[in-house]
Amino acid sequence: MSIPGIPSNVTLKFAESWVQERVSKKRFEHIEGVVVVGREIALAMGEDPFAVELACWLHDSCKEIKAKELIEIALSHGMVLTPDEEEYGQILHGPVAALTVHKELRITNKEVLSAIAEHTLGGIGMSITSKIVYLADKLEDSRPDEFTEPIFEELNAIPFKGTPNAWHDYSNTTEADLDAAIVVAISLIARNLLKKGKPVQPKAMLVRNHLLKGLKKD
Ligand SMILES: [Fe+2]
Ligand SMILES: [Fe+2]
Repeated sequence: MSIPGIPSNVTLKFAESWVQERVSKKRFEHIEGVVVVGREIALAMGEDPFAVELACWLHDSCKEIKAKELIEIALSHGMVLTPDEEEYGQILHGPVAALTVHKELRITNKEVLSAIAEHTLGGIGMSITSKIVYLADKLEDSRPDEFTEPIFEELNAIPFKGTPNAWHDYSNTTEADLDAAIVVAISLIARNLLKKGKPVQPKAMLVRNHLLKGLKKD
C-alpha cells in the first residue's frame, strides 16, 4: 500500500505503535475509536481509507504535550502564531502533530498532514480526508450521545444494531452531509463553551461560516 508522501515503513501498524508510545492508555483508546469511525466513513463513501486511518492514528499524538511546549515547538518550526494560539496553546496540538510526523516520520503527504493539523478547529478548504478525520474525532464512542446524535443525523448515518454507539452505516452520506455535520459539531462545541463562559475559537467560527456559505449554494 503506497501513497505519495508516505514512506514505505509508515504502515498503519507502525503508526499505531508509534503513537501508543507517546500517549496515555485512555488517549490511545480514544485514538483507536477515532480510527474505527474514520475507516467506516471512508469505506462507505468510497474513499481510500489509508490516508484517513493514518491521519486518525496520528491526530492526537501531541495532545499530551503541555501548552507552553507546544508553542515552543511551533515557533521552532517557524510557525507564525495567532494571538489565540499564543493564549491557548493546546489548540496547537494538531498543527504540532503535523509538524512532528513530517519531521520524525518523513510524511509529506499534504492531505494527511492537513487532516492532522485541522482536526481540532477545522480549516478552510478541507479535503474529504480532513473532513472525515475531523468528524471521526467527534463521533468516537466515548463522546456523549447528546453531542454525537445531531452529527450522526446530518450524516444520514444509520446505527448498526448491537454494536457500540459509534458504529454506523454511512452509505447514504454525501460530501455536503460532511459539511453540514461539521457545522453542527462546531455549533455544539461553541454552545457548550458559551454555556460554560469559556472563550470560543474564532478560527472554528470562520470555518463554520465558510461551510455554511457553501451549503447555501446547493
Ligand atoms: Fe485532538
Ligand atoms: Fe482526538
